[in-house]
Amino acid sequence: MNTRRLFIQSAAATGVISVLPKLVSAHDRILTPSQTKGPFYPVPEIEKQDFFDFDLTRKGPDSPLAEGKVIAIRGSVIGHDENALGGSIVEVWQACETGRYNHPSDKNDRPIDPNFQYWGRITTSESGEFRFKTILPGKYPGRTPHIHFRILSPDRKELVTQLYFGDHESLNRKDSVYMSLNVAQRDNVTTVFEDMAIDPKDAKSEKIPTGQFTIVLGDPSDTKSTPPM
Ligand SMILES: [Fe+2]
Repeated sequence: MNTRRLFIQSAAATGVISVLPKLVSAHDRILTPSQTKGPFYPVPEIEKQDFFDFDLTRKGPDSPLAEGKVIAIRGSVIGHDENALGGSIVEVWQACETGRYNHPSDKNDRPIDPNFQYWGRITTSESGEFRFKTILPGKYPGRTPHIHFRILSPDRKELVTQLYFGDHESLNRKDSVYMSLNVAQRDNVTTVFEDMAIDPKDAKSEKIPTGQFTIVLGDPSDTKSTPPM
């Protein structure tokens, strides 16, 4: 898991250089910020989604590949106390390569990709991890490329959020939803790609650009994150 419990902070004081260890308590970890669900949440379709379908790039094992750059997202769901949240449900939905959602409320005239699976539902492993393969979402008017997430975990606060891509920094900086977050929150929801094996247990499997996303949930009583808009 890509988490860090401890870091050492150096300090200099009164002319005497000293190294002061600082324990970062679990409560210092920033919660993943809540962000708008938007108008294209795919109900009821997403409720029918196979929980074990990690591949949005095609509709079936023998179906044609969707248009666009194939990427993967590997992530984990943890509590603010850093406990892994296995058995959490992670829902994702996004635009296809043209920037179009497969949703009746999306009125833009860009073509639907008939081969793209626009949404998915995944359960996290016992160690809170999840992964899925998809295509880099297209840009649509007024928004920088992003993937929507909804996370449901027992005894935790439901979270709706969005993930962004560091490769699109200039577009991100023009996006009002993204820029409404503070710097630490933006850092939490911005991923950068690194070529990694599709199958994490098989280093020899095909490598594709992979982004990491650590989702940190608060308690039900937590008021630090704002409710979904
Ligand atoms: Fe969106």
